[in-house]
Amino acid sequence: MSDALAGCRVLVTAGPTFEDLDPVRFLGNRSSGKMGFAIAAAAQRAGAEVVLIAGPVHLPTPDGVQRIDVRSAAQLHAAVFEALPADVYIGAAAVADFTPAQVAPSKIKKRPGEDGLDLHLVRTRDILADVARAHPRPRLVVGFAAETDDVETHARAKLAAKRVDLIAANRVGIPGSGFESDANTLLVHDAAGHVQLGPAPKTDVADRLVALVAARLHPDPR
Ligand code: CTP
Repeated sequence: MSDALAGCRVLVTAGPTFEDLDPVRFLGNRSSGKMGFAIAAAAQRAGAEVVLIAGPVHLPTPDGVQRIDVRSAAQLHAAVFEALPADVYIGAAAVADFTPAQVAPSKIKKRPGEDGLDLHLVRTRDILADVARAHPRPRLVVGFAAETDDVETHARAKLAAKRVDLIAANRVGIPGSGFESDANTLLVHDAAGHVQLGPAPKTDVADRLVALVAARLHPDPR
């Protein structure tokens, strides 16, 4: 318990989004939500007022955290902009980049003679980039980059393209890190360089990320 974020409103997104195809099917991803939930808990322990906007996950709400549940990328976007303004935005959710152009009103059926199904997907809005352009803008905007390769190059590109202050990059698709794991290693990039947090349990990595955020907000030791 510390007061490093006392008086700050912190908005955290976590988990996957589900994009419905029809009443029974959706497109999702393998995010467990654990990293985002651990960050929300760590920020609360550091004294912040925390709003956690969660995609579909089965995780308990951290003590003292206000939780808003959503399903799709569009709902997540709307919930984030309803919850703003905030001092800090941490976008840990694995937001779908594409969503079906239309949701079929009834279950899509196989038709005799058809050997495939073409899905038409359209881009979702980039929540992180929109938050970084919002007025008033959070003092600190932190994005995540889940990558299977060239982690550093992609993280640096996202830092610039989305105009965020920090990008926490992690390798996914390997055991012991990233999605569905209890442990993680984050490479946190800013305009000047990067620091590595972990490998460590996600709860420890979250505490260290929150300490980095607090140091950015209050550059002078208090
Ligand atoms: N993100 C977002 N809104 C989207 C897509 C992504 O806010 N529609 C945010 C995520 O919450 C994360 C960051 O952008 O903080 C990076 O997401 P990622 O999927 O790794 O990268 P993309 O920017 O979508 O790029 P690509 O899929 O090409 O790697």
